[in-house]
Amino acid sequence: MIVAMDGPAGTGKGTICKLVAERLDFTYIDTGAMYRCITLKMLDNDIKLEDTDKIIDMFQNTIISFKNEKNDEGKLVQRVFLDGVDVSEEIRTPRINETCSPYSALPLIREKLVDLQRKLAVGNNVIMEGRDITTVVFPNAELKIYLDATPEERANRRYKELISKGIETTYEETLESLNKRDYNDMHKEVGALKIAEDAVVVDTTNLGIEEVYEVIKNLIIDKMR
Ligand code: DC
Repeated sequence: MIVAMDGPAGTGKGTICKLVAERLDFTYIDTGAMYRCITLKMLDNDIKLEDTDKIIDMFQNTIISFKNEKNDEGKLVQRVFLDGVDVSEEIRTPRINETCSPYSALPLIREKLVDLQRKLAVGNNVIMEGRDITTVVFPNAELKIYLDATPEERANRRYKELISKGIETTYEETLESLNKRDYNDMHKEVGALKIAEDAVVVDTTNLGIEEVYEVIKNLIIDKMR
């Protein structure tokens, strides 16, 4: 079974997918992490968006992988590896937050990663989240969900997350960066974020994590029946 989930940044997609993976035994695939890895590699190797040959070459020598572990409390922790190096923290810094959108808009990068995402899902019960999973990667997924929340609520969540990691920022800066990213994500030439016609929209603005999980779990159980 494939559960496809899209939505803007800060709606809690990752948190909810991890709970589904942990409690319902699904494989969780975080496609945003894949775009973040490619952004990191291109920045570190000074590969520009117009360097088509270098990008093609880079994909032939790039391995992105996930490792799922349970921590002491039994919670699922996903580590992301780029060419064998754990980049889980590095891909979530403001440097990557601010630059990943234009990189993820490049059709060549999308084509390569969409291909990889489809391959990763073969033969598993998968919950995959991103921006174009319900529309491009798996338009025929058994269940399609669009997670949403107001920009202010999402900025508030992101701000708290960054502060808890010791990253210095302000709420205003976080909101501005999030609004910029929403705009870019929704206006991409290929793979733009939009609500699929047959997606179930879940507004999480006034819901806690467990409440959102209950809604999603019930949707999955209904589909499994
Ligand atoms: O979900 P996230 O914030 O980690 O995503 C990082 C960036 O990648 C964000 O700018 C949106 C983009 N992205 C995308 O274009 N398509 C996806 N399927 C997932 C993420």
